[in-house]
Amino acid sequence: MNEKKTKLRPGIIMLIVMLSLTTNANLSGQDYLSPSAMIADNQAGKLYIAQSTAKQVAVFEISTSTVIKTYSLRAEPSGLALSTDKSLLYVTCAAPKGKVKVVNLKTGKIIRSLAVGHTPTAPVLSSNGKTLYVCNRFDNNVSVINLASRKQVAQIPVQREPVAAALTPDGRFLFVNNLLSAGAANKGNIAAVVSVIDTTANKVITTIELPNGTTALQGICISPDGRYAYASHILARYTVPTTQLERGWINTNALSIIDVERKRLFDTVLLDDVDNGAANPWAVGCTNDGKKVCVTHAGTDEISVIDVTALHEKIRKYHADEKNNQSSSAGRSNYGSYGTSSIPISNIPNELSFLYDIRKRIKLHGKGPRALAIIGSNVYVAEYFTDSLTLVDINKTADIKTTALPLGPTPQLTQIRRGEMLFHDASLCFQHWHSCSSCHPGGARVDALNWDLLNDGLGNPKNTKSLLLAHRTPPAMITGIRENAEMAVRSGIRHILFAVRPEEEIVSIDEYLKSLKPIPSPYLVKGKLSASAKRGRKIYSKARCDSCHEGALHTDMKLHNVGTGDGLDKDRKFDTPSLVEAWRTAPYLYDGRAATIEEVIAIYNSDNKHGQTSNLSVKEIADLANFVLSQ
Ligand code: HEC
Ligand code: HEC
Repeated sequence: MNEKKTKLRPGIIMLIVMLSLTTNANLSGQDYLSPSAMIADNQAGKLYIAQSTAKQVAVFEISTSTVIKTYSLRAEPSGLALSTDKSLLYVTCAAPKGKVKVVNLKTGKIIRSLAVGHTPTAPVLSSNGKTLYVCNRFDNNVSVINLASRKQVAQIPVQREPVAAALTPDGRFLFVNNLLSAGAANKGNIAAVVSVIDTTANKVITTIELPNGTTALQGICISPDGRYAYASHILARYTVPTTQLERGWINTNALSIIDVERKRLFDTVLLDDVDNGAANPWAVGCTNDGKKVCVTHAGTDEISVIDVTALHEKIRKYHADEKNNQSSSAGRSNYGSYGTSSIPISNIPNELSFLYDIRKRIKLHGKGPRALAIIGSNVYVAEYFTDSLTLVDINKTADIKTTALPLGPTPQLTQIRRGEMLFHDASLCFQHWHSCSSCHPGGARVDALNWDLLNDGLGNPKNTKSLLLAHRTPPAMITGIRENAEMAVRSGIRHILFAVRPEEEIVSIDEYLKSLKPIPSPYLVKGKLSASAKRGRKIYSKARCDSCHEGALHTDMKLHNVGTGDGLDKDRKFDTPSLVEAWRTAPYLYDGRAATIEEVIAIYNSDNKHGQTSNLSVKEIADLANFVLSQ
């Protein structure tokens, strides 16, 4: 900077401000559009496309295949809904103090900005058009907004990171996908669930259990006849060591079919083929005639188009055969049984060729398909990393036609952006079963599962670590077995993706991970510690937590035995984990045995080896936990 201060006259300042406003869209460092959500106005022949990093919504005209308008939001759009008369667009904007911006599509003006929760997404309009439901991802709840009074009339707690929702056609029930499982990771059924909200009572009336290993529960849609919901997710085979990748022995990719009337799982089918994974299933949509279900694969840049009638027929027949042949179920060896007390035992989730002949896998032109919109037999898929759409005409039985439709200039990828793309790219992986983001979803964070990776021996599973700050806090891995995160990244590629990649690609993954920024905790009040967390801060020093969780990152980067080791890890030292973003990395401890911070302190530290805590009252423990959860 120049030492000498230049005084600017007010007129010049005005001019500079105006210039910077008009060029803001191009100069704000946002060279990418990053389409992440999409909704169609069938009658008007338009698509509205949320472009998250460009902080705008684009209007795409179908007849000319061009973007005819953009609405700037100055906030990251994450989801879209249209008013019943299609004159208003509701846009959720992802931020700690989340907003729904209401755009008048005639004037192009933002006419309202409604306050909702932390990182809102997936807005859904009620059938009478009077109520808007919004998933507040990091508050773990759903806002119910009365659009006439513009007031939030209810906040309905769901389970963990709600990211998608669908309303039954009669408007009675809202099905909400929770991205991750809640609870400890070392016992029982570990699976993300679908929360069902009764829209008259405004509360969750049931949660639908999905098979053990369900994670990254991403997209959901309900068939036009209202009978079935279809939810996309990963089906992690976390109960077996990660020695083998073929035939889906680590991550498989699935679609769960839910019986809407009975509010329980009908069955789960795998989207993969025997030797070719269809990784990271994301958006789901039904055609208007209900005959096809489409699923985008964000990791392999494809869509699956499934014949619904054939699918249901095949499942029914399989169930009938299974019933007639009960004894065969005893001989199942694959990945374990997928039944629980509340869901039927079925072997379909182990059948890698179940969709053979009733599903088409179609390669898209761009990379990172995370949203889709269907008009008749035209499926539009929005591709996050290439700022593009692929139009797929699914009418044809053979030779399905695809057309590439760019939304802007071909993006020039920086090293960081390229790393982000590769991190989410399952084509790096042998047979395409998974990407790094399969186990580290939500921007390189956690899947809440334990995995028996091979770096520290067999038979001692470890809870997935968030990669935020991994490069700044060597050593890496829970046991500190890798000198640093760079080495952990390289061994991840070799031993988890079973791949060899050029060094420049791997360096860009490092750069992407280094660029990650912590998200402000939902436990903060107006960006500051709550009164309880402030009390907790004192206890944190008094209990000597900061002797190991020291400094701004809350880690001394050293190994300690804090008395948690068990089984093969008995008496083992572990690397002090950073507690930054601890609010989103549950469950806790190396084997994910603690569902909450309170459990870490009150249940699993009986001998004060992990801080001086035995003398703390219940209230002090709650305060201490609040402080940790505020980081
Ligand atoms: C099958 C699930 C799975 C996949 C896929 C996966 N990881 Fe991990 N990753 C884990 C688990 C579990 C841990 C923690 C295990 C431990 O610390 O012993 C981990 C830890 C790490 C760490 C260490 C973090 C730290 O701070 O110590 C890095 C770095 C990492 N992974 C990078 C990657 C990259 C890069 C990819 C893709 C090439 C990847 N992972 C794919 C499960 C996975
Ligand atoms: C002697 C060093 C040391 C002290 C003192 C200490 N910790 Fe830890 N902390 C660790 C280590 C090592 C781990 C990893 C243990 C494991 O994975 O089983 C850990 C794990 C944790 C975790 C789980 C984090 C995760 O992501 O799984 C939390 C939460 C935590 N500590 C909070 C605290 C609090 C609160 C205190 C004070 C009461 C405290 N620690 C005192 C070293 C320490």
